[in-house]
Amino acid sequence: MNLKNRDFLKLLDFTSEEIEYLLDTAADFKEKKKNGQPHRYFEGKNIALIFEKTSTRTRCSFEVAAHDLGMGVTYLDPTGSQIGQKESIADTARVLSGIYDGIEYRGYGQEIVEELAKYSSVPVWNGLTNEFHPTQILADFLTIRETFGKLSGIKLVYLGDARYNMANSLTVGCAKMGIDFKVCAPEKYFPDAQLVKTCQKLAEQSGAKISFETDPQKAVKDAQVLYTDVWVSMGESSEVWEERIKDLLPYRVTQKLMDAASKDAVFMHCLPAFHDLKTGIGKSIGEKFSLDCLEVEDAVFESDRSIVFSEAENRMHTIKAVMAATL
Ligand code: CP
Ligand code: NVA
Repeated sequence: MNLKNRDFLKLLDFTSEEIEYLLDTAADFKEKKKNGQPHRYFEGKNIALIFEKTSTRTRCSFEVAAHDLGMGVTYLDPTGSQIGQKESIADTARVLSGIYDGIEYRGYGQEIVEELAKYSSVPVWNGLTNEFHPTQILADFLTIRETFGKLSGIKLVYLGDARYNMANSLTVGCAKMGIDFKVCAPEKYFPDAQLVKTCQKLAEQSGAKISFETDPQKAVKDAQVLYTDVWVSMGESSEVWEERIKDLLPYRVTQKLMDAASKDAVFMHCLPAFHDLKTGIGKSIGEKFSLDCLEVEDAVFESDRSIVFSEAENRMHTIKAVMAATL
């Protein structure tokens, strides 16, 4: 398998074999890290991390993975560079390509990261756009594989706003890897119809299933993974909270829903999560709408069925795999 010099912009650009290879590479790196085996295969190389939105997991994962691989890192924060204000994406791509061996980009429209990749002569990695979050899916799939020993045939239900990066990327990833994927949301929150059509075709080849359900109790029957994400994503106006809460409250992951799922069901979330009122936004929204949590109940989040922190750790191992495979 040779992925050298490839960009990692969205899972649609990769075959199921290539995705499997990245997961195997990540598992191998994880093992090495646990055993204290050095893997500084890219000494002397340097990467740039462009973040136009904030991050904990993705930034830390890229930085630690790069250091483990022997590389230098420059972090460009949402305000600390000329990008967008004084310099176009095309010019930035050509400047950074001359200095760095790889570029990570987190920001708004998918077309921006695609433009960056078009003008860059070094690999570009998508660290999240409004439309896709492909490195998150690799971490999720590694975690599912570790939990159930396989991906193909796993029944995964996504509850909540399914029009954004997480549900879009899960739809593609599940379609490629033979997963039985169900979106559970009010109809107006279903993913883009064109993307679903593309994924239905992929599903025919892999044996995956893609289905839709508006009733959460029905949706979670036999489900092995209940997955959710925040109801308002980065970059969206805080004014949409009221409508989202009204529409999505029945889709909150509750203990009752976990009990209605398969006996071995686990809870997953890309994080950060509003499972209590111990965050700035969680507290102000919770108090305003008289809620003690948003997309997931604290009892579920803190339960032994919750694998969210393994999922978060796996961001680092999978991002390392993406960089090592493409550099
Ligand atoms: N899941 C995820 O991408 O987290 P960060 O926003 O903290 O990077
Ligand atoms: N949908 C979320 C994912 C965060 C990792 C967002 O874009 O804010």
